[in-house]
Amino acid sequence: MQPKTVLITGSSSGIGRATADAFLDEGWEVYATARNPADVETLGERGCSIATLDVTEDDDVERVVDRILDEQGRIDCLVNNAGYAQFGPIEDVPADAVHRQFDVNVYGPHRLTRAVLPHMRRRREGTIVNVSSVAGRLAFPGGGVYCGSKFALEAMTDALRAEVDEYGVDAVLIEPGPVETAFTDRAADELEGVERSGAYESFYEVFEDTQAIGGGGPGAVPPERVAEDIVDAASSTKPASRVPVGTLARVSVLGRFVPDAARDRLFSLLDRLR
Ligand SMILES: NC(=O)c1ccc[n+]([C@@H]2O[C@H](COP(=O)([O-])OP(=O)(O)OC[C@H]3O[C@@H](n4cnc5c(N)ncnc54)[C@H](OP(=O)(O)O)[C@@H]3O)[C@@H](O)[C@H]2O)c1
Repeated sequence: MQPKTVLITGSSSGIGRATADAFLDEGWEVYATARNPADVETLGERGCSIATLDVTEDDDVERVVDRILDEQGRIDCLVNNAGYAQFGPIEDVPADAVHRQFDVNVYGPHRLTRAVLPHMRRRREGTIVNVSSVAGRLAFPGGGVYCGSKFALEAMTDALRAEVDEYGVDAVLIEPGPVETAFTDRAADELEGVERSGAYESFYEVFEDTQAIGGGGPGAVPPERVAEDIVDAASSTKPASRVPVGTLARVSVLGRFVPDAARDRLFSLLDRLR
């Protein structure tokens, strides 16, 4: 029997790399993609097909999807994993940084989804797994732009799920809390591009130690743990629509049901306690 085929974005590190490994272990045909193909060479040596794919480039998306369909005749699963965090208070983040954030985290998955869907609809089969975050369920001060991108991804995935249900296609949101990856380093780099107004220095003190928000903090899970849930979702005939990953994620998403006023008070209390 022909193995199932998966296309993964952002496979150079972290969750994307672990996900490529996990699908390989399950016998899938894996297309591990990255902006720089040198970053996925070792995955190639392990048996993945590798390809250059920047999710902000329409031509890359079209070329890679066409190649997989030529070589395999099928794409059973798309994992929209590529993403990063643009932190910073709303006032301080310039519009072009907001645009870049949405280009990668929201328009990227949208480009890939549009590219694979005609094929999945024709086969009446397929799973689109979108790697969101707890930040897609709960917005926090200093994280408005990143949370906004993940909220948008969540909304589009919810709409998509209902649209493609009649074609046998599933759409799943993976919602990790902190994961031990390079995420926090990239977030720290992006924060350097923010134009500090001087009005929000207390936030920068927190974000200068972005380990508190991303991978190195308490309750963080290894990327392999997230990969496991992604492979499960792709392999299930009826996957859950949302999968919070890790205890911290399962508890944090409940914050969504706390009344706004209480949540605002909690954030202001946390700020005073620092
Ligand atoms: N780590 C966490 O705490 C955490 C928590 C919740 C959700 N997430 C989500 O998990 C996903 C993966 O992040 P990670 O934690 O594994 O971090 P990571 O190790 O930094 O990996 C991010 C991946 O995204 C890729 N990427 C960034 N911009 C891209 C673009 N324009 N085109 C293609 N690929 C691009 C990176 O490639 P380059 O190497 O080329 O930059 C890298 O492979 C992200 O969507 C993130 O929002 C992470």
